[in-house]
Amino acid sequence: MLRTHTCGELRISTVDSVVTLSGWIHRVRQLSGMNFIELRDRYGITQLSFQQATNPELYNLSNTLGREYVVKIVGKVIERQSKNTKLPTGDIEIEVQSVTILNISKNPPFTLEDDTDGGDELRMKYRYLDLRRNAVRANLELRHKAAQCTREYLNNLDFLEVETPYLIKSTPEGARDFIVPSRMNAGQFYALPQSPQTFKQLLMVAGLDRYYQIVRCFRDEDLRADRQPEFTQVDVEMTFVEQEDILQIFEGWIKFVFKTIKGIDIPALPRMTFDDAMKNYGCDKPDIRFEMLLQDITTTVKGYDFPIFEAAEYVVAIVAKGAATYTRKDIDALTDFVKRPQVGANGLVYIRYNEDGTLKSSVDKFYDTAALQKIANEVGASPNDLILLLAGEKSKTQKAMCELRLHTGSLLGLRTKGTFACLWVIDFPLLEWNEDNNRWIAVHHPFTAPKPEHIQLLNTNPAEVKADCYDMVINGIEMSSGSMRIYNREMQERMLQLLGFSKEDANEKFGFLMEAFEYGAPPHGGIAFGFDRLCSILGEADSIRDFIAFPKNNAGKDVMINAPSIVDTEQLTELHLAIQIPTNENSKL
Ligand code: AMO
Repeated sequence: MLRTHTCGELRISTVDSVVTLSGWIHRVRQLSGMNFIELRDRYGITQLSFQQATNPELYNLSNTLGREYVVKIVGKVIERQSKNTKLPTGDIEIEVQSVTILNISKNPPFTLEDDTDGGDELRMKYRYLDLRRNAVRANLELRHKAAQCTREYLNNLDFLEVETPYLIKSTPEGARDFIVPSRMNAGQFYALPQSPQTFKQLLMVAGLDRYYQIVRCFRDEDLRADRQPEFTQVDVEMTFVEQEDILQIFEGWIKFVFKTIKGIDIPALPRMTFDDAMKNYGCDKPDIRFEMLLQDITTTVKGYDFPIFEAAEYVVAIVAKGAATYTRKDIDALTDFVKRPQVGANGLVYIRYNEDGTLKSSVDKFYDTAALQKIANEVGASPNDLILLLAGEKSKTQKAMCELRLHTGSLLGLRTKGTFACLWVIDFPLLEWNEDNNRWIAVHHPFTAPKPEHIQLLNTNPAEVKADCYDMVINGIEMSSGSMRIYNREMQERMLQLLGFSKEDANEKFGFLMEAFEYGAPPHGGIAFGFDRLCSILGEADSIRDFIAFPKNNAGKDVMINAPSIVDTEQLTELHLAIQIPTNENSKL
């Protein structure tokens, strides 16, 4: 080996030993007649010293060492004159006896410090340099640990890790597929899996009983902070279980992961029905780190001739505790926030409950003090609170209020990092009506079973059918989804028919699964966790990108390798793709 020790390893107990270290030059400090160089590797930093008086030749060589040069040194461990309590190796330094330059380096385009001066794009382009930074490397170490303890937990429960194929047939799960053309079968295409859903169900039919995989999934959807086109799931399926078994096993897993990685004891996960989540939080992934529940005040506000409230299907309020001090400007900013297209409200009404007990609102023209007091009482507001109200069509207004609640929660410092509020959201509807396509779509996916006691409603009132379908939510982020599955042909056919598939289409797309159900398919269910999301929550970060070694940017590009990119005409011809290939020039347009 090119070293006897790593750069993070030496302590006062090793003083006087002669060691060999290899690593990157992190920082150079030149004092008169003395150079101090920090040598860095994955494990830490060790200080090297070069003295002009004792070894002028080596001292001169040390003057030529630039940032990120790769060197091997031999030297004696000595006790430091001025110790650095911030470094684990801070009690010692190495009095260097020889230096071998293993490789030189250009000056990096950004500083490789925790607080780097590099912008996002630049760091993505030189991701291998960004990964040299402590913070980014620590994220990958956390990811590794999370994967290790996941395997440990599941292996102990007899789960089998099985790999499923990446070149498959399209399984619609709400996003677009990435398509791969087949050279050997002209005009035909594979799809990259959005998840191994059908395969894991087939593994249950095969009798494997308990399956898991830490698996890459591919979805061609618009990117956000918590979405990448390729991401990783902890994917699981189990036979002869009910929803309760799955909830308990994975509640145990999340507790184990938090304990192992963060030393935190997560309390028993509360369970909230989908209906309650919508009613109280306006969405199916509530951030329960703080209260500020949505309150339906539709009937209370009617009858005062305020046209907007009179016309509204739904009027909803939240109480921002202690926010009566918000200025006009603050409230204007909140109004701008709710009017953003992503939030979609037309405007915002406020009632300020002043410290002295007086009430002031943006609708004083319609609501006198008594009316405002009535609203304030109903929503449980106290002096010094600010009541925020939105009105309109119910589902749109719930969604907007959910966003406003989260935004206000952030402004009031209620969404603290380092606090983890996990819960299960259960009893999701099986189907939802899609106005655009004028048909039912599966809330989870087409393989989710209706609750047995709701099957008869499929004919009469599909909207009321609930499923044994469950999400784990942490701090307002959907961490996982899962469900009990359909396992007989007749029910699967019925489901696909409800979703608008013709018999032929259903057979073409899912015939293999329905046929498998005819060969003794056992009852089964499962769940899949977003592994990148889990890591970013554990790392208390805002974006999953920081926990993926080589992520894509917001335009879905890997700017380091320049992908996607144009391919040769020959390659396309081989793949039977007769398309017009843009030239470099017009592709820029
Ligand atoms: P679902 O589609 O809900 O369920 O995905 C499960 C979990 O995967 C994560 N996730 C993502 N993470 C990062 N980037 C993305 N683009 C992305 N999309 C999803 C989320 C999500 O909760 N086969 C079913 C699971 C099952 O029924 O067992 C499935 O894939 O954390």
